[in-house]
Amino acid sequence: MSEIITIANQKGGVGKTTTTVNLSASLAKNGKKILIVDADPQTNATTSLGFSRNDYEYNIYHVLIGIKHISEVILPTKFENLDIAPANIGLVGIEKDFYISAKANRELLLKEALEPIRDEYDYIIVDSPPALGPITINALGAANSVIIPIQCEFFALEGLAQLLNTINLLKKSINRELTIKGFLPTMYSGQNNLSRQVLDDLSLHFKDKLFLDEKDRFIIVPRNVKIAESPSFGQSVIEYAYHSKGAVAYINLAKTILREG
Ligand SMILES: Nc1ncnc2c1ncn2[C@@H]1O[C@H](COP(=O)(O)OP(=O)(O)OP(=O)(O)O)[C@@H](O)[C@H]1O
Ligand SMILES: [Mg+2]
Repeated sequence: MSEIITIANQKGGVGKTTTTVNLSASLAKNGKKILIVDADPQTNATTSLGFSRNDYEYNIYHVLIGIKHISEVILPTKFENLDIAPANIGLVGIEKDFYISAKANRELLLKEALEPIRDEYDYIIVDSPPALGPITINALGAANSVIIPIQCEFFALEGLAQLLNTINLLKKSINRELTIKGFLPTMYSGQNNLSRQVLDDLSLHFKDKLFLDEKDRFIIVPRNVKIAESPSFGQSVIEYAYHSKGAVAYINLAKTILREG
């Protein structure tokens, strides 16, 4: 049965989609069968992997509102071991739909939708939007664990308490097994004092929640131009620039996740 990992942070632009795509690609390169679930109406994970709107008719939105089965929307990507359940802008309507349909267990729609295919994948990685609304709640409701990317910039830790609070509430209600897999510092720049400050703060308050590589060093995703360029080629940084520092960070993250099981 697959482990479901949701990538979440209600702050925008912190590296959620980048982490979703590149962690998934790194796990797939290690021979694991991976499904990305793009649960963000911005569709960035879907586009990052080279899909455009005309490439697919149905998407995760149709699954959540109950008119398609998850297996009917999954697309193989051009990369081995990597599939995606794409998103669509229609997802923004989901909030309204949730209330109109007044569905029972509406926080668990994604969890229930993924259930029938969980044996087909080693990991299901869910990208979530920059909000703590119903889509993110569904993404966290479905997850075994959550990875929280933290951008190494000013205000990095702002809003974190609210996110942790939400996770704790979910643990007490709809998802008792939810754990925080770790915080992932992203866009780190060694020349930048602020970057170092954020990392110091994180290691002070959340030391046991930072990922360690096999030499017990913190895994930190550097600010790296190859990471920023790769989506425009419809590739993860693993294919686009395997030896870049950005790729190495995500490969190390995948190795740590595999090692920790
Ligand atoms: N390590 C990095 N080095 C350089 N650029 C990066 C890095 N990580 C992410 N970026 C770039 O920063 C921008 C934001 O990243 P990304 O889209 O992954 O954030 P996000 O949290 O998913 O955003 P949103 O909240 O809008 O969904 C993108 O243009 C991405 O290419
Ligand atoms: Mg995103």
